[in-house]
Amino acid sequence: MSYISQIDLKKSPKHIAIIMDGNGRWAKKQGHERLYGHNFGVEAVRETLKAAKELKVDYLTMYAFSTENWNRPKEEVDGLMDLLVRSIAGEIDELMDSGVRLMTIGDTMGLPEACRNELQDAINKTKNNTSISLVLALNYSARWEITNAMKQLALEIENGTMNSDEVTEEAITQKLTTFSIPDPELLIRTSGECRVSNFLLWQIAYTEFHFTEVLWPDFKAEDLYKAVLDYQSRERRFGKVSEQLT
Ligand code: FPP
Repeated sequence: MSYISQIDLKKSPKHIAIIMDGNGRWAKKQGHERLYGHNFGVEAVRETLKAAKELKVDYLTMYAFSTENWNRPKEEVDGLMDLLVRSIAGEIDELMDSGVRLMTIGDTMGLPEACRNELQDAINKTKNNTSISLVLALNYSARWEITNAMKQLALEIENGTMNSDEVTEEAITQKLTTFSIPDPELLIRTSGECRVSNFLLWQIAYTEFHFTEVLWPDFKAEDLYKAVLDYQSRERRFGKVSEQLT
């Protein structure tokens, strides 16, 4: 039986987050430079977005560039930025046709100007689209995001517009770059690595994890279906006992 026919669409996760990993190893295996893998990684993003839309997922968040990725060789960083600009420019018509809203999380002010401009343009154009939101995590690190949120709250307390009793989970959530986005129910990481790597640390408190050996450029719709089926086979208890859920 095909995987998709076993999925209960009424119980699809509303938000899936993905740590796309293994582009470099995939390229090496084919005897190419790492950037070759990133180029094919964009194909996998396209296919996954389409599959997520069919599954009625509302938000798909992709870890496209971490704060730590600046430490990679300059040629790879420049290549990734260039790929991002080209991909967004090349995909904008398709995003509009398929009703995709583009969003970003992370310290986007730290991205090169050409990249910021291309992103802003696409975000503005797609802002009223409603079929699915594609959230690109760019120059993102969860510890940066939480630190930034704390700084904003500290400033408000310093200015007297807030007092310390008002520092609640909700107040912190509102200062994160994900403030308008629900927490992910499912986090997928490819390439056999089983780490969270500074991704969405606050938001994944109750998230189910799915790890797969598949290298990101090889990730297909079927792999997303498998991850969603794995998610649907689990019981989410949020600290309660089974009997309390019925
Ligand atoms: C991880 O593989 C991949 C990245 C750090 C970059 C992912 C970026 C893309 C797929 C392109 C993004 C573009 C759009 C439009 C979203 P790795 O290089 O860490 O692989 P390795 O672990 O095998 O070295």
